[in-house]
Amino acid sequence: MTKKIILSGIRPSGKLHLGNYWGALSRWLELQNNSAYQCYFMVADLHALTTGYDRTADLRSNTEEMVLDWLAAGLDPAKSVLFRQSDVAEHAELSLLLSMITPLGWLERIPTYKEQLRELAEREITTHGFLGYPVLQAADILVYKADAVPVGEDQLSHLELCQEVARRFNRLYGPVFSEPKALLGETPKVPGLDARKMSKSYGNSVELSDSPEILQKKVSQMYTDPKKIRANDHGHPEGCVVFALHKIYNPEYVAREAECREGRIGCVACKKHLLSLMDPALRPFRERRAALEGDRGAVWKVLEEGNAKARQAARRTLDEVKRAMGLA
Ligand code: TRP
Repeated sequence: MTKKIILSGIRPSGKLHLGNYWGALSRWLELQNNSAYQCYFMVADLHALTTGYDRTADLRSNTEEMVLDWLAAGLDPAKSVLFRQSDVAEHAELSLLLSMITPLGWLERIPTYKEQLRELAEREITTHGFLGYPVLQAADILVYKADAVPVGEDQLSHLELCQEVARRFNRLYGPVFSEPKALLGETPKVPGLDARKMSKSYGNSVELSDSPEILQKKVSQMYTDPKKIRANDHGHPEGCVVFALHKIYNPEYVAREAECREGRIGCVACKKHLLSLMDPALRPFRERRAALEGDRGAVWKVLEEGNAKARQAARRTLDEVKRAMGLA
């Protein structure tokens, strides 16, 4: 049986937080451990450049920290190909070739493009590279002829663009690509400490590798129902960060919801209980990470081996692409 090819990537922003874990990594682990799939997982460092070309000093250490987290969480180089995008030149090469057939209008209408231009208005990102972000992403996916791409909903428009570009390529040059599907899983929502979306840039994240002391401090800071002041006040778990995490870490969260609503537990006790569930859940991760941190060279060795495997697969596609386009 030939395995289905999976590809996904994360931009290297350093240590991963619980939002990254539940939004992406936990799904990657499931796919990796399902023998029906061959997974490629990528450090999307070229994509990091599209919005951060002027702040590259931490790119290397951010890559290292992220891959340490991957390995500590259980991504296994013996099962999955773990690699760095910029080390596999075929991504850039295919991206250039695909850019020839991608109309500007397709890129300009992508919602994330317009949104980011607005949100990152203080940065000078009206660049060719930023507009071409989804073309590069299409190249990431098509260069491995991936069958499926685990992504969050925010990435769906990029996947649609990828499918359109694949179709257009096939129409122009013959059938080289099939259309990759989005794998939209049910991932739990993980709010940040202040109830906004968990994000490094908001300073509201819980890192996977936080020490027990830091975790305790962060749990104690979590936003709860502001109307619940005394322990026996009736609470509103919707919108409460502590409850959102009970939903993930407490198998009996349904009972907790009722207790909160009926004013049978206070927020301090509820937080204490959450900490007693989260701390042991994160401990094995912390321990594996501490062991891996001792040998950072090992991270780069893992990536080098992954790069070599990725290159091999990518080169095959590129040879085919160049033949189809009349370049070989
Ligand atoms: N754009 C993705 C994100 O910001 C990261 C990414 C880059 C990616 N290339 C990819 C995801 C290819 C899936 C497939 O999350």
